[in-house]
Formats: sequence, structure tokens, C-alpha cells
Amino acid sequence: MPFDFKVADLSLAEAGRHQIRLAEHEMPGLMALREEYAAAQPLAGARIAGSLHMTVQTAVLIETLVALGAQVRWASCNIFSTQDEAAAAVVVGPRGTVDEPAGVPVFAWKGESLPDYWECTDAILTWPGEGPNMILDDGGDATMLVHKGKEWEAAGQVPPTTEGDSEEFSVFKALVRRTLAADPQKWTTVAAGIKGVTEETTTGVHRLYQLAEARELLFPAINVNDSVTKSKFDNKYGCRHSLVDGLNRATDVLIGGKVAVVAGYGDVGKGCAESLRGQGARVVVTEIDPICALQAAMEGYQVTTMDQAAEFGDIFVTATGCFDVITAEHMARMKNKAIVANIGHFDNEIDMAGLAATAGVTKTEIKPQVHEWTYADGRSIIVLSEGRLMNLGNATGHPSFVMSNSFSNQTIAQIELFAHPEAYVDVDGHPSVTTLPKHLDEKVARLHLDPLGVELTELRKDQAEYLGVDVAGPYKPEHYRY
Ligand code: NAI
Repeated sequence: MPFDFKVADLSLAEAGRHQIRLAEHEMPGLMALREEYAAAQPLAGARIAGSLHMTVQTAVLIETLVALGAQVRWASCNIFSTQDEAAAAVVVGPRGTVDEPAGVPVFAWKGESLPDYWECTDAILTWPGEGPNMILDDGGDATMLVHKGKEWEAAGQVPPTTEGDSEEFSVFKALVRRTLAADPQKWTTVAAGIKGVTEETTTGVHRLYQLAEARELLFPAINVNDSVTKSKFDNKYGCRHSLVDGLNRATDVLIGGKVAVVAGYGDVGKGCAESLRGQGARVVVTEIDPICALQAAMEGYQVTTMDQAAEFGDIFVTATGCFDVITAEHMARMKNKAIVANIGHFDNEIDMAGLAATAGVTKTEIKPQVHEWTYADGRSIIVLSEGRLMNLGNATGHPSFVMSNSFSNQTIAQIELFAHPEAYVDVDGHPSVTTLPKHLDEKVARLHLDPLGVELTELRKDQAEYLGVDVAGPYKPEHYRY
């Protein structure tokens, strides 16, 4: 074997390659960046450790990074989100064969165990020669491994596992313990080599700002999520598409006429609510933020609390980035055969441990990632993807066109941070978290207009002067919210 990798089945590579080929057609932003930077090779010398759902769309991102000169190792950021044919195709590569793979080392398959998951995350940060110098993260797990690894390495030990630790945290601690036993300076070495991280999602970005505020961020970060062409498109229109896809593939229950409860009316919640309403559901929203609650009300949705909605909802979707949004007590009061799903990044939005600990409850697998939990009185609820993000666990995530926007931002952010890591520090010289400048956000949007037949109006010079902007943009001030 020319390189190490771990995927489900390399013989799926041909099927994956066909899907990648079709996806490329729907990802004009990434393909334009390949063309623009083919000669300059701005990522030559970049060694990128990527932790992001290993889907067909991500395959196009990975091959774009490689086309721009990068070396890459990849894992998925969720145990259920890998499309095995995409993972196989990336390992084989566009010019390799199943017998002689010539692509990228991928460590990902659908249905990893938690120990597998952290082994795979460790594998993308463990390079055969020189270590990684960039991280591309989704949810912040790769970044967390480096930070916690270094912190515990400095403390001389990984804190002992206690009863209060979640299963995930215990598994994580065990992994760090193992890596430090093999190489006591592993994480100091890895951290020292990293120039920066580009982060994909709301939850990961939240973690980065917390680290930066505590002055504990070890390297600069670009917040890709808050590019307008990411969060106002992928989070919203992506979920508008993939939420219903996941519900249909998992249950095929008729959505029309049902009461669908969406927890959280941020970007993801807005997309979810719209798609459920589009199917004819009566949508109910729960929110903690008065502004988002008012937005939901203005759109015509009923806004109430989960305590109330638990009893009359047919379909529940959490989209908050918060924890304990649906508790075991809520689930115990739900209607017979209510569907419970999470589309937020982590699996703590629904209290799965509390559900499993409910007296007399039993779990039946209907099919992978679809489970019926039956209470002692015979009522049952259907839980999707064991409480993990269902649009990737039960379906294949967002479609290519919207991911082309997100991943164009990712590519531009990698180029920028790899070239100028020193520019991304705060006034005191500490690594900072920054969003891409607006002209690049506008550039990403521009790359996606032609395929949709959009005819953009060109500002005249006198009009531009009147508005106080440049003819070539940016067209909005930083504080504009879209
Ligand atoms: P956001 O911050 O725009 O929206 C979250 C909303 O939930 C906020 O309005 C907040 O006030 C509300 N909220 C927080 N706690 C709540 C609670 N206990 N009850 C009710 N509402 C509550 O975040 P965004 O971008 O909508 O992302 C939400 C989650 O989805 C994040 O974890 C993010 O990482 C993830 N995400 C998942 C995607 C997917 O494909 N599955 C795509 C993009 C983001």
C-alpha cells in the first residue's frame, strides 16, 4: 500500500467517482477556484488535517485542496455521516485504481464506534513524515484534540475518568492517554506545527471564540461559518433540503397535516421550519431569544415551549447548538410514534442517556439509524440517528450546489491562513478568530450566479458614489445583517 487509510470498502470507489463527477458540475465555486489557482498552487506545502463529514461534496473539496497543491489527510466529524463510496473514491483518487490507490488517506466509514471515531481523528493529525500545518475542522473536534492533548500533556496526566463523564468524554480521554503513552510530547509537537484552523460550523466557531476569549487558542482561526455565503445558505437552504430528505428516508411518514416542532429558530431552524411548512406541516417553534421568537411569530409559526409542545407534536427537530433541549421527561410525555430528531451539530440536544435510563424502556432497531423506543405502557417514539445529526445520518447531507458556497469559503480561508497566519492575531498578539473579508464573501456568491441564470445589475459610478461604495464592492457595511 502506498499510504495508510481506513474506509469501509475500496470497491465502492467507482460508484463514488460517478457521484463526484456529477457533484463537480453542481459545485461551480470550487471548480472556478481550481482553475483560478491551478498555476499559482497557493497550497503547495500545506499539510491539511481535515475533519468534516466525508460525503461526495467533501470529496470535491478535498480534491480541490489537492489541485491547489495541498497534501491532505481526512476523517469524518460524525460517526454516521460518511458516504462510503465517496470515502473509497477519494482514497483511490481520480487516477488511481483499487489495487493501486493514488488519492488521499481517508479514515472514515459510516457507523464508526466512538473509539473508532477518535482513532480516526488522531490518524489525521498523525502524519508519516512532517506533521500537519493546517486544520480544516467542522465542529472543532480535531482542534479540541490538539488543545486538550497539549493541556493534559503539560499537566503531566490525562484527568482520571470519573462517573460524571459522558461516554464520549471517557472515550476521548482514553484516546489522549494512549497517544501520550506512545509519544509523551505528541501534542506539543503537533500544536507547534499548526499555522491555523478554518472552522465550518456554528458550534465549532462557538468553541473557538471561547478559547480565544480565555487566551487559550493555540493558533489563529478563520470562522468560515459566519461568511454570509455559508451560514445564510448552507445552514438555511441546505437544511431546508436535507431535513425533509432525512425524515423521508428514515420514516417515509407523511409530513403534511402533522404538527412539527422545531427547537431553535436560527439559520438552521429557519430552513427546517420552511421545509416542514412546505410539506404542509403545522410548524411550532421553540426559542430562547426574543428576536428569533418574534421572527418566527411574524412568519406565522406558533411559538411555545418544549414543555408544552412535547404533548402535541408529531415530529420534533432540534436545531439549537444547545444541550438538553428535549429531555427524557419530554420524551416520556410524547404522543405514540412521535418522531424525534436532531439536526444540530452535537448529540447532546436530545437527552439520549436519560431516555436509555428510563425505567422499562426498550429499544428496537427498525433499520440502521432508525430506532423505536418503547415505554412500559406500550407507547413508543422513533428516534433518528441516535440523536446525532439526522440529515447526514439518515440522508446524505446538503446538496452540492449549496456546499459549493461553503467549501469555496473553506478553500479561500485555507489559502489565506496558510499564506498569512501572522496577520490573524489580536491587538496583544494572541491568535484570534476572524471572518473572511466581505469582498471574498461577495466573490463566492458571484461564482454561483451564472449557473442559476442570474443577471446582476451593475452599479453605475455615480450611483456607487451616491451609496458611498465602490463599483466593484463590497456593497454593504460590516454591520449589515442580510
Ligand atoms: P444559530 O445560533 O443561528 O441558531 C440556534 C438558535 O437556537 C438560536 O436562535 C438560539 O437562540 C436557539 N436556542 C439556543 N438554545 C435553545 C433552547 N434551549 N431552546 C430553544 N432554542 C434555543 O445556529 P445555527 O447556525 O442555526 O446552527 C444550529 C446548530 O446546527 C449548530 O449546532 C450548528 O453547528 C448546526 N449545523 C448543522 C448543520 C447540518 O447540516 N446538520 C448545518 C449547519 C449548522
